[in-house]
Amino acid sequence: WLATSQPIAIFDSGEGGLTVLKRAWALYPGEDFIYGADSSHFPYGSRSLDNVRELFLRFLDFFLDQHVKAVVIACNTATAAALEEAQRRSPVPVIGVVDPGAHRAARLSSSGRIAVLSTYATYQSEVYRYAIARYNEGAQVVQHPCPVLVTMAESGDTDTEQARLAVRECLTTVFREDVDTVVLGCTHFPHMERIFYQEVAGRAEIVDPGYETAKHLTAVLGPLKQQEGGTMRFYTTGQTEEFDRISAVLWPGMTIRATALQW
Ligand code: SIN
Repeated sequence: WLATSQPIAIFDSGEGGLTVLKRAWALYPGEDFIYGADSSHFPYGSRSLDNVRELFLRFLDFFLDQHVKAVVIACNTATAAALEEAQRRSPVPVIGVVDPGAHRAARLSSSGRIAVLSTYATYQSEVYRYAIARYNEGAQVVQHPCPVLVTMAESGDTDTEQARLAVRECLTTVFREDVDTVVLGCTHFPHMERIFYQEVAGRAEIVDPGYETAKHLTAVLGPLKQQEGGTMRFYTTGQTEEFDRISAVLWPGMTIRATALQW
């Protein structure tokens, strides 16, 4: 029953998944997208994986009711918590951000010393360690939680001196471990991409798993790619005015008007 004209769902705990939507929108301008943000339960990174799974599965039901043709879990924590269960339950493809990011990092790193910056929940799940090992068994994965960057990005604080200092602090810790690749293992972090590139200053490769995932979508969609259309709808379980206000900061030039979701 899948058809090209059905939308693609993109999910995040908040505004982080916009970094993935932005990439997907640029790569597939003919597609229709539905973005779902569980803003009232943000941040996922300080919740248990069981709780995150339960929260995400409600969104999966919502997306399936909207007759989507694919679901992208544009949240590393929710991918760690719920990808396998979602794939078991869903009649349409569900993809997460971890595996495409891990694959890219394993390919890019020449020393095999790879840093993964993430939330606490992703860090504790060790999902990146296992995923990277699938592509490079001998890789040394240096995991480091940076929750402060998540809350800063969610409040639109992505290009300030305070953001720069916070990014620098996260990087200082992992550069002590002599890494040559840094994975932005939370979709909120690429909102601070400019600062990341400046602070890394060529000392390592930077991997954005959301971008890798957006590229991977083409293989997932196969013949279901839509060439004409190109719409976006936004839903949040939080305050719609707040979602719209922060989105305008994070995605300048894009007018976003979210619809409230209540279960
Ligand atoms: C968060 O809600 O803590 C961020 C989720 C993520 O992208 O891992």
